[in-house]
Amino acid sequence: MTAQELIEEAKKAQGYSYSPYSEYMVGAALITKSGKVFHGCNIENAAYTPCNCAERTAFFKAVSQGEKDFDAIAIVGNKKDTPLKKGEFCTPCGVCRQVMAEFCNPKTFTIIVTDGFEIKEYLLQELLPLSFGPDNLK
Ligand code: THU
Repeated sequence: MTAQELIEEAKKAQGYSYSPYSEYMVGAALITKSGKVFHGCNIENAAYTPCNCAERTAFFKAVSQGEKDFDAIAIVGNKKDTPLKKGEFCTPCGVCRQVMAEFCNPKTFTIIVTDGFEIKEYLLQELLPLSFGPDNLK
């Protein structure tokens, strides 16, 4: 699957965003090494603290179904009814980067984002350098 195709999958997930408080709608599509795609959206809560990002929704769905070998994640996010401006990208928050570091090889796992004009791809090690991960506890 191409980066553009995975972005299209993330857009499908974005349609399910439950974000009545921030009105910032996020969708993610996580692809496994075997080519299976897991969708996730952000899910907010009136008590705010339990909000879950789209990326973590996708990861937790996949891991809870026995998947732990991931290739890439595509993320799309924008304020409701407001398209992104050129150069504005929805990049994963620090907590989601840490969750990625738990399951993914930082040298190969790819994070795909778009501002609607171009697609950018980053390796996890670029977005979370000097990470603390499972290897630190060996
Ligand atoms: N959010 C995500 O789902 N993913 C990101 O990468 C950034 C932020 C969500 C959390 C919250 O529901 C809303 O966007 C505003 O922060």
